[in-house]
Amino acid sequence: MPKNSYKIAMLAGDGIGPEVMASARAVLGGLAGPDFDFAEHRVGADAFEAAGAAITDAVIDACKTADSVLVGAMDVARLPAGARQPLRTLRQSLEVGASVRPSRTFAGVEARCAHIDIVVVREVTEGVYSGIEYAAGPDAACAVRLVTRGASMRTARIAFAEAARRRGKVTAVHKLGALKLTDQLFLDACREVGGDFPGVEFETRNVDACALEMVRHPQEFDVIVATNAFGDILSDVAAGLACGLGLAPSGCIGERWAYFEPVHGTAPDIAGKGIANPLAAILTAALMLRHLGEDEAARAIERAVEAVLAGGGPRTADLGGDATTEEVTRAVIAQMNAG
Ligand code: NAD
Ligand code: IPM
Ligand code: MN
Repeated sequence: MPKNSYKIAMLAGDGIGPEVMASARAVLGGLAGPDFDFAEHRVGADAFEAAGAAITDAVIDACKTADSVLVGAMDVARLPAGARQPLRTLRQSLEVGASVRPSRTFAGVEARCAHIDIVVVREVTEGVYSGIEYAAGPDAACAVRLVTRGASMRTARIAFAEAARRRGKVTAVHKLGALKLTDQLFLDACREVGGDFPGVEFETRNVDACALEMVRHPQEFDVIVATNAFGDILSDVAAGLACGLGLAPSGCIGERWAYFEPVHGTAPDIAGKGIANPLAAILTAALMLRHLGEDEAARAIERAVEAVLAGGGPRTADLGGDATTEEVTRAVIAQMNAG
């Protein structure tokens, strides 16, 4: 049977982005199944400093014409005010409905709780990160929290579909006491979409109380659906409760396009040392494969990661080990070839 072949746009970015993307690429290259043709594109703060743009229209077009897209991380905090924010630009241009962020425990890795399996489904094109921000005189500044029915509905649809495939529960987070109009609109959209999923339980929680309950009883959560900033924060909380950012992958899913990135950032404190945990990026590559319909290849990667961790294989410092990025990557590839 001929192998499936995919064109992948690779946007490695800054800091540990290129380090962990090299691992994802090596693992994809080590698969017995599909073939990949990678095209590298420069994005992020280094690209801005070198060429004046953190992302260009040409890169976005390349993402739209590729079969899929892998993104490392970008040091957006280093960009000056007024520069085009590359993540928001990418998410808006690819019409992403949600960033789907699974956090789970892995045998062989210590976590806050024995068994955690939560997916945060986060709106990523508007909310308080809409980019509508301006100075209001010399001593004040405003950010507009834009929430639309269209974007909320598409995020909710992704959340309910995810819950229907999992344990059948959606928790929508809000802060209605402070954000009457925007969060009412978001919750109404979630409730309306929920009407099409009678088998999925639906509950709402205030975001602060939700964070507390996630820490106290993480097993109660299946899928959490949230507006942009709340989802950003709660997805890091979920990762922290499970095995940390070093094991948290994500996929930004739209109806026409999708791209895949670890939840973590550029980790300036460890960048350039070769000690970043590559597993979030490797698990991100598995999410990409599943979205491409390559279930078997996706499972092969996930099984290899699970086996390396459960079998006491090499691990990086964030997981209590002293292995390098490369040693962990080699162990995953060897495990894939063995199993
Ligand atoms: P971060 O996620 O980069 O780092 C937070 C902590 O987690 C650090 O201690 C870091 O060393 C650790 N960490 C993260 N990933 C790790 C890995 N793979 N292995 C081991 N340890 C890891 O968050 P930050 O420091 O707040 O942000 C740094 C920069 O990254 C900022 O410019 C921020 O805006 C950006 N950022 C980008 C993305 C993205 O591009 N998708 C996501 C988050 C943050
Ligand atoms: C993420 C990141 C970004 C976001 C930042 C870097 C702007 O934290 O993807 O989780 O929240 O949009
Ligand atoms: Mn984040």
